[in-house]
Amino acid sequence: MATPRLRLPVETARLVIRELVEGDLDALHAWRKHPAYRRYLPMPRQTRAEVEAELEAILRDQIDHRRVRYLLGVVEKMSGQVVGEAILKLGPALRHRQAEIGWAVAESAKGKGYATEIGKALLDAAFGQFRLHRVFAMCGTDNTASRRVMEKLGLREEGTLREHFRARERWWSSHLFAMLETEYRS
Ligand SMILES: CC(C)(COP(=O)(O)OP(=O)(O)OC[C@H]1O[C@@H](n2cnc3c(N)ncnc32)[C@H](O)[C@@H]1OP(=O)(O)O)[C@@H](O)C(=O)NCCC(=O)NCCS
Repeated sequence: MATPRLRLPVETARLVIRELVEGDLDALHAWRKHPAYRRYLPMPRQTRAEVEAELEAILRDQIDHRRVRYLLGVVEKMSGQVVGEAILKLGPALRHRQAEIGWAVAESAKGKGYATEIGKALLDAAFGQFRLHRVFAMCGTDNTASRRVMEKLGLREEGTLREHFRARERWWSSHLFAMLETEYRS
């Protein structure tokens, strides 16, 4: 099956979700280095050079004709600033029509409903553009805000993955939430 492509940008009431560009490095690094960003995330603190290397990999993804990973920038229309990231990962096998979605917003942009707006746009893209069958999201069991976003999006809780990976010298457990295409369409 040929890999479909996500049509970008995706526009919501207050946000534009678009491809990241080289010029986003400072903004991306600014929220990635903030302690609140990784409080409930397993990744280690990234240096500017590491964020730059990741951005280079993201730019390479953009021209991959078998692209399955969309790590995107989120621009606040009102300010024109990049204030967050959105992720949509297709797979593992396209014939199963599954994807994982995720979100992060800069500290200054939290609490405005932006993550929920990003999530809604990703669900619309996944079920609308890609005609997927199931879309899931995960968050650390102590990430109350992200869990709340999943609930607000109407994803259904499927369970808890208990201590399913190890990072930063501890075990991590995650909530698993998902939506099926029938639930999206009803
Ligand atoms: C998780 C995150 C994306 C939420 O972004 P946001 O734009 O503030 O989210 P929203 O405003 O759409 O919704 C957040 C909800 O969680 C609630 N919330 C926030 N912090 C909370 C807390 N500590 N305890 C309980 N609820 C909390 C908010 O009140 C809101 O719910 P409400 O609308 O019912 O009041 C943001 O905190 C973030 O970027 N965190 C760092 C990266 C991250 O953890 N990403 C998720 C990876 S799984």
